[in-house]
Amino acid sequence: MALVYVTREIVGDAMDRLRAAHDVAVWVKPEPTPPAELRAAVADAEGLLCMLTDRVDEELLDAAPRLRAVANYAVGHDNIDLAATAARGIAVGVTPDVLTDATADLTFALLLAAARRLPEVIAAVAAGQWSTWEPNRWLGSDVHGATLGIVGFGRIGRAVARRAEGFEMRVLATRETPLEEILARSDFVTLHCPLTPETRHLIDARALALMKPTAILVNTARGPIVDQLALGAALRAGAIGGAALDVTDPEPMPADDPLVGAPNLIVVAHIGSATQAARARMTELAVDNLLAALDGQPMPNPVG
Ligand code: DGY
Repeated sequence: MALVYVTREIVGDAMDRLRAAHDVAVWVKPEPTPPAELRAAVADAEGLLCMLTDRVDEELLDAAPRLRAVANYAVGHDNIDLAATAARGIAVGVTPDVLTDATADLTFALLLAAARRLPEVIAAVAAGQWSTWEPNRWLGSDVHGATLGIVGFGRIGRAVARRAEGFEMRVLATRETPLEEILARSDFVTLHCPLTPETRHLIDARALALMKPTAILVNTARGPIVDQLALGAALRAGAIGGAALDVTDPEPMPADDPLVGAPNLIVVAHIGSATQAARARMTELAVDNLLAALDGQPMPNPVG
């Protein structure tokens, strides 16, 4: 039996399989394990089941000399220093596929909400401001028949493209269309690339300036792909039509962030994979990864 540290309570029966095979300690508070407490908690751990809110870096790995397996409870892995884990021979696994559809669904929810100004209308109705049917109020933009630019055409990007077919949208994707052309021609631009040194601030002031003044930017990938200061300036100047973000930089977005209060902006709280079913399947995959690696086998869903 190995000691496995789990940095947050997670849903699904799969945790029972982990507990049957290993000694499992779980951080039970809703906030992330504070870094110092995490370092202390992994001192004897051979397995770590961590969240995208945990940084798995040299400092943490130095505090975990027995660590053999890291299962990230996410498909993204920008919170993990892969060079450092590789140098120590630590296996790293992720949770692909099982959150693809949930994230693509949320992408479309955000796209539709921004296009049809739903937060504004919901707030007005709740405030008793729906006095009559108005011919010229709350006019949004058509989603059906519009052009959708997909930046990052992996599993989630392709799932978004499948949904776009139902809306008879024209899809431009980075696999076959240059980014500049996508930005210039799309009515909606949605981001689905991983966060890497190359994609950090991919959507900067220059990229935003290429977009149509009516275009809406959707980000359900990672916050730092967008230069948030530049986005705030573009929204305030009316240089783009709107933005709908599930991810920000940093997370959570602080109350005094320059983006707060920008017009035509929707921000939700990194809920792309937040369905019961997706999160339970993520638990299964994370547990499968740990059980395999602690048993000396390859992880079924290794990073990369
Ligand atoms: C992921 O898996 O990377 C998502 O961001 C978690 O919802």
